[in-house]
Amino acid sequence: MNQTCIRDVSKHVGQEVTIKGWLYNSRSSGKLMFPQIRDGSGIIQGVVFKKNVPERVWSDFEKLTQESSIIVRGNVRADERAPGGFELDVVDVEVVQIAEPFPITPKEHGVEFLMDNRHLWLRSKRQHAILSVRAEVIRAVRDFFDSNGFLLMDTPIFTPAACEGTTTLFEVDYFEDAKAYLTQSGQLYNEATAAAFGKVYCFGPTFRAEKSKTRRHLTEFWMVEPEVAYAELNDVMDLAEQFLTFIVQRVLENRRKELAELERDTSKLEKIAPPFPRLQYDDAVKMLQEAHDKGELEARFEWGGDFGAPDETYLSSQFDRPVMVHRYPTAVKAFYMKPDPERPELAMCVDVLASEGYGEVIGGGQRADDLEYLLKQIHAHGLPEESFDWYLDLRKYGTFPHGGFGMGIERCTTWLCGIEHIRETIPFPRMLYRLKP
Ligand code: 4AD
Ligand code: MG
Repeated sequence: MNQTCIRDVSKHVGQEVTIKGWLYNSRSSGKLMFPQIRDGSGIIQGVVFKKNVPERVWSDFEKLTQESSIIVRGNVRADERAPGGFELDVVDVEVVQIAEPFPITPKEHGVEFLMDNRHLWLRSKRQHAILSVRAEVIRAVRDFFDSNGFLLMDTPIFTPAACEGTTTLFEVDYFEDAKAYLTQSGQLYNEATAAAFGKVYCFGPTFRAEKSKTRRHLTEFWMVEPEVAYAELNDVMDLAEQFLTFIVQRVLENRRKELAELERDTSKLEKIAPPFPRLQYDDAVKMLQEAHDKGELEARFEWGGDFGAPDETYLSSQFDRPVMVHRYPTAVKAFYMKPDPERPELAMCVDVLASEGYGEVIGGGQRADDLEYLLKQIHAHGLPEESFDWYLDLRKYGTFPHGGFGMGIERCTTWLCGIEHIRETIPFPRMLYRLKP
């Protein structure tokens, strides 16, 4: 039994192979049947010729329903006309199970229905393509940091206090009357590991309890966060543009087929290369106000606020590559940001807005390294000082300039796939109204 997976059939042209999988789809024309067989690695079209197979094989195929599990034996033939370039001349089939009527059929379904059946929806070509791009993004992320001198540091998921603001935390009971919060970011711990190891990154699930329903929000998402000792804001921006370019290149190199399945216009991605435009917040505000005056943006943006989704979309659609907006007002950013020495009302931070209107994919910057300033910020943000004593220690024992950023894997995947909504970029999305399946 020459077992293979569909991805590798090209190595078996002219040979008889066994494929274990499911029936994706089938059409028939009396004496011929064309079952589409999928096995998770790909889809291949089978050809069953009534005249050439035993009666039982023909009648088994006639009984098969969508998603029936089957083990198929056949000869691999190269055929340019076949989808995928190869066909399987079926010799025999073993039926593992005739599936009950599959809820998801090739016709159109509403998105809520598909989300309720996410565990089954994952079997579609589109989901296969999107989640393969996601896996490629993750592989690229690890390769980039592992081969550029960064050490992986896993930071905790149970944390005693907020990192990104107190209103967006998931609280859990943590033994005798103590409370813990699911992490929003590994950054604060990363700052400690950066002092110990120089260049580090953490990568894991993060949690945000904002009651946001936008197409960019998940309550649970995966974030990768590099942190670099002695890096200043410009170094953080250099790193961000090299990093994003590397990921885009990798996906273009290895996932063309998937991008084609998604009908992604890759010419837009091909253009992505350093340097990315760097736009100071002040200038971004001017652009938004001009857009409003020209009638291109409904609401007039006032200096001092944080950008909303329509603002980010407008800004990022003005450039053919990701744009790095830096130096937002300190007041709208997290407590740990370093103030600009020349204009302390601005933070030394950067948001990278993906191209084609996709909005923020990266947020980061340089960290405040002055003990007095940080203490003031912790009080101003109403954070419990006792939870941060260890963090403040980093400013007592060899404080150092440092910075880094966080990138959401699903935001990045949404952009690279060119799709509408973030919910399809993680196998089982967690959102405001979705905890199942
Ligand atoms: O901008 P954020 O909140 O930054 C931080 O958490 C920093 N502590 C990171 C750092 O400097 N080490 O989040 C970083 C990125 C965003 O740019 C976005 O890609 C993603 O995380 N992100 C989300 N992705 C999906 N759903 C959400 N609710 C997200 N919130 C942030
Ligand atoms: Mg942000």
